[in-house]
Amino acid sequence: MEIKKAPVIIVGSGIAGLLTALKLSDAGVSSLVVTKTHLKENSSWMAQGGIAAVLPENTSDSIELHVKDTIYAGAGLSDESITRSVLSEGFLAIQDLIKLGVPFDRVDGKLAFTKEAAHSTPRILHAGGDATGRSVQDTLIRKTLQDPHIEVLEACVAVGLMVRDNRCYGVHVVNYENPDNLQQVILMAQHTILATGGIGRLYSQTTNPPIATGDGIALAYEAGAKIQDMEFVQFHPTAFRSERGVEFLISEALRGEGGILRDISGRAFARDYHPDGELAPRDVVTRSISSQIRKDGRPFVTLDITHLPVETIEHRFPNILKACQQFGVDIRTDQIPVSPAAHYGMGGVVVDTLGQTSVQNLYAVGEVISSGLHGANRLASNSLLECLVFARRVAAHIETYSENLPLELFNVFPALSESKLVSHQPEALKAAIQQLRDMMWQYAGILRDADGLKQALAMIAALEKEAHQAGYFHYVPQGLEFRNMLITSRLICEAALLREESRGAQYRTDFPELSPEARHYVQQKRLAEGVRQ
Ligand code: SIN
Repeated sequence: MEIKKAPVIIVGSGIAGLLTALKLSDAGVSSLVVTKTHLKENSSWMAQGGIAAVLPENTSDSIELHVKDTIYAGAGLSDESITRSVLSEGFLAIQDLIKLGVPFDRVDGKLAFTKEAAHSTPRILHAGGDATGRSVQDTLIRKTLQDPHIEVLEACVAVGLMVRDNRCYGVHVVNYENPDNLQQVILMAQHTILATGGIGRLYSQTTNPPIATGDGIALAYEAGAKIQDMEFVQFHPTAFRSERGVEFLISEALRGEGGILRDISGRAFARDYHPDGELAPRDVVTRSISSQIRKDGRPFVTLDITHLPVETIEHRFPNILKACQQFGVDIRTDQIPVSPAAHYGMGGVVVDTLGQTSVQNLYAVGEVISSGLHGANRLASNSLLECLVFARRVAAHIETYSENLPLELFNVFPALSESKLVSHQPEALKAAIQQLRDMMWQYAGILRDADGLKQALAMIAALEKEAHQAGYFHYVPQGLEFRNMLITSRLICEAALLREESRGAQYRTDFPELSPEARHYVQQKRLAEGVRQ
């Protein structure tokens, strides 16, 4: 088995991972970015809407207003001091991107701001119209590939973190670039950073790319790190709905620019459910659409932007226009069929204000973290901001304050015996993955109750048993992903069952009220299996 050493290993290559690598490089620290597929496959790449930030030129806005909106959306679980400190760093984080060359959209030379649900003023920066993630990611990839301090290793899936006595020494990966010759590699590092993204693919209906299988959360949990708020899965109200199911995200920015939700008879229905209509908090709009779908007896409602000027649509939403056209829908003249889909996991690996997890020398950035910003429901476009701010903080902490053991000491692990890993993906494994995703959508989706969650947990246990018996966890990469999906699904269902209330993105039909006390639930394997507070 090959052993490779680097000062810093970053697992994941979305905006959070790459910006951390670039900031480290600015400080003269080298890193190795290891990614499961390739640099362009991640949720960052697909982010349409933008980045929420308070900038001095936006005189209608203030940090306090942004804090208020974030805390309102977070339904009592956003930490006010973390929220204020993260949002206050937005200006510096945006400056970083501008310096790196991100081409934010402008009007008359000035940065353009749009509005999304539950923001009290336009404060979302965007690029390429509706291709913010891609524009930022493209810029970061270009810089990364030119940077002599950053090495990139693609097509590597993680098997486990190397942890001893609650200190992380790196990660064990399998390089599957050549499926006929799988290479197991131990990557040893002074500091390991999880930037592995989210959990959307645990659900059959999702806006997320195939890589979003909860890997970082599962790896951290298995290594004994604290995990928090897993029950809070954000379901985006509007994803394009074809006959097959959900295809891709239809950005909230369409509603921000005046898009109207219509029922089967063509009537605008959003105000039946909330006075803010289409721009009510995301969880409210999701449940409204879901109720309307049940009432209408049709698997979608429609989003109508045909009243907007054609030039606005073409200029602001060029990619959505093109993507819908491929399904025969011209958004300039046709209403768009939409339904909700799993979009973002608010919970994840607990980090402190510097991005440190509860395992020493293990950091985390991006969607994989639970920092206290999003609470029970993330405010739209706060996630890319959180990626940027924690990338800055982790890099600064590693540069200035961290303890750097000499890499020569990193032979502490006895040689691992090579696991019996194989690249073939049997049909039965694919079927088991689909079964899990359908089951999560049905029982741990937009509406939940105790009976459904208990059924889900029983099915997860049965799938786990089947996977062990059939040896699914030896298959690379899908078997390893399946293992992570099972762990993460179990964490979600356990936490959702424990929270006997409806708050933010968690709606329990058997406990529809908000309980008076707002609390977090922490899950940690090291303490004991099960859920701890
Ligand atoms: C969107 O464009 O609607 C997604 C933005 C986000 O999830 O923050």
